[in-house]
Amino acid sequence: MPAPALLFPADPLNPHRPDPHFAWEARVLRGLGGEQYLVDHDALLAGQAEEAVRRVPRDCGPLWYRGWMIPSAGYADFARALAGRGAHLLTSAAGYASAHELPGWYGVFEGATPPSVWIPVRSAARPGPEELAAAVERLGGHGPAIVKDYVKSRKHEWHEACYVPDLTDLAAVARVVARFVELQGEYLAGGVVLRRYEEFARFDGVARAGDRGSAEARHRNGQGGARNGGAAASRSTASRSAASRSAGNGRAPAARALEARVWWLDGEPVLVGPHPDMPGQPAEPDLTEVRPLVRALGCRFVTTDLASRADGSGWRVVEVGDGQVSDLPRGIDASGLLTSLIAA
Ligand SMILES: Nc1ncnc2c1ncn2[C@@H]1O[C@H](COP(=O)(O)OP(=O)(O)OP(=O)(O)O)[C@@H](O)[C@H]1O
Ligand SMILES: [Mg+2]
Repeated sequence: MPAPALLFPADPLNPHRPDPHFAWEARVLRGLGGEQYLVDHDALLAGQAEEAVRRVPRDCGPLWYRGWMIPSAGYADFARALAGRGAHLLTSAAGYASAHELPGWYGVFEGATPPSVWIPVRSAARPGPEELAAAVERLGGHGPAIVKDYVKSRKHEWHEACYVPDLTDLAAVARVVARFVELQGEYLAGGVVLRRYEEFARFDGVARAGDRGSAEARHRNGQGGARNGGAAASRSTASRSAASRSAGNGRAPAARALEARVWWLDGEPVLVGPHPDMPGQPAEPDLTEVRPLVRALGCRFVTTDLASRADGSGWRVVEVGDGQVSDLPRGIDASGLLTSLIAA
């Protein structure tokens, strides 16, 4: 069996080169002697999986993907199209969906992550008032909460489309959810998730987050301080602005937790670093509790974003992701991670 090769999205302006956002990873991989091929991410999103993989050589063996997010159904087409060429992704379509979408991983991580409920949404229709009221009830009926879909939040529109100050205010829940659904539009993944808001340590060191004033102060701090990956931030097509876990518009949201992103391969942490929204921040999470959960999930290559409780009483899983579509922080040394991938 040959060593795994990596697939990167091609630059839409120059299909013979990797997309600029992933070019540095591709360079590091080349330096390590790793094989790489390019895929057409736009074709993949357009439902043309065969076209997307036509530059991948036949019978090239095992593959990892490192690139922009792909909806779970699109990933299944991607895997099928590659299999048709005698190549196979080391993360199956089922494994991808488990790590990529909150309902896929929540059952395993329940207790270690904020309590969450979800409402499947078909074709961007927003949940009705009864469905929302029932979901709020399942979540305990009171206290602050976060709105997101199965994959992404709109953390940059914190007050408008992400944060609900109190679940007892059903009109506010409906307003934030409606705005969230409207802004996600055709990119809404799966359905609407409500999560209980928890107090995490902040990257400015302030622990309070629920009150408006301090949240707005942090928002300003965030705009001046932490920035997301530049290339991702400048992507102009909607598909890509919604297309990489944590590749946002460059503005930090209000009330950001100080998060560590841990990269796991076959149940072992192969890279521990900051969340890509806050590169350079120290990240030393305690992995004792999360390690057996990652193993129980059973996906080979995943990330966990971990935040420390504001009172210092332990680490919480903010979210889980598929390692293939999780963003790396700028400036991090990715050689260990890539070495592990091509040795897997
Ligand atoms: N339950 C929660 N309690 C407190 N803060 C939360 C909670 N869920 C999310 N947050 C805050 O909102 C931010 C965005 O949430 P989350 O990470 O789930 O969304 P995302 O859009 O998938 O982010 P990413 O950029 O990591 O892909 C988190 O980084 C964290 O600061
Ligand atoms: Mg996140």
